[in-house]
Amino acid sequence: MASLKNLFAWCKRHYLLVTFLGVLFIAAFGFVNIQILHMTSEPEFCHMCHPAQGFGPLAEVDSWEHSAHGEAGVSCLDCHGRPGVVGYIKAKLGGLKDTYMQLTISKEEKLEILENPKKDLVPDLQCLFCHSDKGNQDYRKRVKLMKIVRMRLLDDVKNPEFRKHKGLPDILTDTFVGGTHFDHSMHLEAFDFKCRDCHFGLVHNPSTKTDRMNMCVTCHKENEGSGAPLVTECQRCHEAQFDMNKGVGAKDVAGEPGLMWGNGVVCQDCHTGVSKGIYRPTSETCSNCHDDSYGEIFNEWSSETKAEIADLREMRINVEDALKEADKKKRDTKAYWTLYEKALYNFRLVRNDGTNGVHNRDYAQAILASVKKDFQTVLNDLDQTW
Ligand code: HEC
Ligand code: HEC
Ligand code: HEC
Ligand code: HEC
Ligand code: HEC
Ligand code: HEC
Ligand code: HEC
Ligand code: HEC
Repeated sequence: MASLKNLFAWCKRHYLLVTFLGVLFIAAFGFVNIQILHMTSEPEFCHMCHPAQGFGPLAEVDSWEHSAHGEAGVSCLDCHGRPGVVGYIKAKLGGLKDTYMQLTISKEEKLEILENPKKDLVPDLQCLFCHSDKGNQDYRKRVKLMKIVRMRLLDDVKNPEFRKHKGLPDILTDTFVGGTHFDHSMHLEAFDFKCRDCHFGLVHNPSTKTDRMNMCVTCHKENEGSGAPLVTECQRCHEAQFDMNKGVGAKDVAGEPGLMWGNGVVCQDCHTGVSKGIYRPTSETCSNCHDDSYGEIFNEWSSETKAEIADLREMRINVEDALKEADKKKRDTKAYWTLYEKALYNFRLVRNDGTNGVHNRDYAQAILASVKKDFQTVLNDLDQTW
């Protein structure tokens, strides 16, 4: 008892020191906790219990790693936790439940849960937070406390800036998305769709483009006579491919029609399997009109352009990092972001065409060259003015 009294007396005398140590302790405790929160949010941590390869249940980390979202730095809790501080904490509590369940349920029960994710596991508002301006602004109006310290990408997402910097359209107002002419708002409202109804291949599940196209054309056939394009009206949906064939569409890059399109060859002259449901031609298609050696030309075009696209994808990450770095140092980057966004738009046109230049090799090459030049300009100028 006496020693406790002494301690209090000592503390009273050294109250400044005690307060200081107290604050230090709380800060250190907070710091360690934040580190733990960070660590347990990383995909490597999730990997411990979701370790399989490929697609589907248990392979969620691997499938994410190879997805467009994974590549763009959108991580698990950016989708599996609502935006804002409360959303983050709820997601972490969900993680505690995961751990408890891991210890208490059987392998079969776990698989059963993972095979049947709840319909609203990732609600549409989550997707719209990043992919539309309205969804982002409405949410931000409702939820004021977005973050205390930076824990993840999501809480910093402010539109239109975020999607513009990523070169993404506003899916509720733009009708040119991912290379396709498609009106999200109209289809969402008229048919009460959820994002998952069409984007069933998103992140964790495999899906082919043929599956996706079939979904559209099946319903459109049922609605024959409305304004819905039928299967033979390729170019009403395939805007990027149509533009590539014609040699238009990229910003500030002049083009000519493709070798074949310019000579009167149309979509279904090459896409000969459409009536049988085989949409994608192969190098063998070339020999329908040329001699067999043209299959080789196809392979050359395709592998050359593919390599260039891969290089630019790497370069793009560097450019974006350099821009963000310059922003942090409060430099005037407005003109460079604009140039970068233009380059990104052009880059995405070639990527979204999806043929690595087969539709129009010269135009694809010209566009990629201009993208490279723009990227280089941003990098060089940011380097110099510094
Ligand atoms: C200690 C093991 C463990 C770790 C670590 C773990 N999970 Fe899980 N997870 C589970 C188990 C077990 C289930 C199935 C039971 C359940 O729903 O909690 C599950 C289910 C899920 C579900 C589906 C929930 C539902 O209701 O359908 C999601 C989403 C999920 N985990 C995401 C994550 C993310 C993201 C991480 C990393 C931040 C992670 N998990 C880390 C064990 C774990
Ligand atoms: C772009 C958003 C997005 C990202 C990023 C994302 N997920 Fe998912 N995740 C979903 C959606 C949507 C579902 C709902 C089921 C479906 O459509 O596959 C889902 C389902 C799941 C499930 C339930 C079981 C299953 O396989 O469907 C688990 C577990 C899971 N995700 C874990 C993760 C982990 C771990 C990461 C990070 C490595 C991650 N997710 C990253 C969107 C995302
Ligand atoms: C944190 C912000 C964020 C969230 C949340 C998010 N996305 Fe994305 N999404 C992105 C970014 C960034 C890209 C660009 C990837 C690239 O560079 O091509 C992208 C790309 C896409 C693409 C095109 C690439 C592909 O995989 O087909 C689709 C479709 C998409 N998102 C749908 C969704 C859906 C559906 C949800 C909700 C389940 C969702 N996103 C949630 C940021 C987000
Ligand atoms: C009726 C089907 C359908 C529904 C429902 C749907 N989408 Fe899409 N979405 C598409 C199609 C088609 C594309 C273009 C795909 C392509 O060509 O790659 C697309 C493209 C996208 C892209 C890529 C944009 C780009 O330029 O890269 C994003 C992001 C996206 N959708 C988000 C969403 C979100 C978020 C929802 C839910 C609010 C949603 N979609 C609901 C059919 C749909
Ligand atoms: C549930 C049925 C249904 C599905 C599924 C569907 N659509 Fe439609 N779509 C319609 C109907 C009906 C119209 C005609 C609306 C009108 O003219 O008022 C239409 C119109 C269109 C139009 C012409 C309108 C415009 O904006 O120019 C395009 C393009 C289109 N759809 C693309 C798609 C694509 C791409 C998909 C697949 C991702 C798809 N649709 C899936 C029913 C559907
Ligand atoms: C109603 C809209 C619509 C029409 C009309 C349409 N498509 Fe598609 N098509 C799509 C969508 C959506 C996809 C999936 C794109 C994606 O996910 O990137 C697709 C995918 C494809 C693919 C890729 C298939 C694969 O599995 O790799 C080819 C090739 C294709 N379409 C060719 C055509 C041709 C040729 C025509 C005309 C004969 C045509 N499409 C008509 C909407 C349409
Ligand atoms: C000279 C022949 C030729 C013509 C003309 C042509 N295509 Fe293609 N298209 C191809 C080949 C070959 C591929 C497959 C490329 C590959 O697999 O790398 C392809 C692939 C595609 C794809 C799939 C892209 C993806 O994302 O995977 C679509 C969609 C498409 N074409 C639409 C069209 C449309 C629409 C037209 C008419 C405006 C058209 N094509 C004209 C030869 C042609
Ligand atoms: C429907 C018939 C048709 C198909 C299929 C077709 N082409 Fe052509 N191609 C033509 C026509 C017509 C011309 C222009 C006339 C000419 O110069 O021979 C042409 C011109 C060319 C030329 C430039 C002139 C030459 O003869 O060298 C190349 C290169 C070429 N095509 C490559 C391809 C490749 C690669 C494929 C497969 C992806 C392909 N073509 C598929 C009809 C076709």
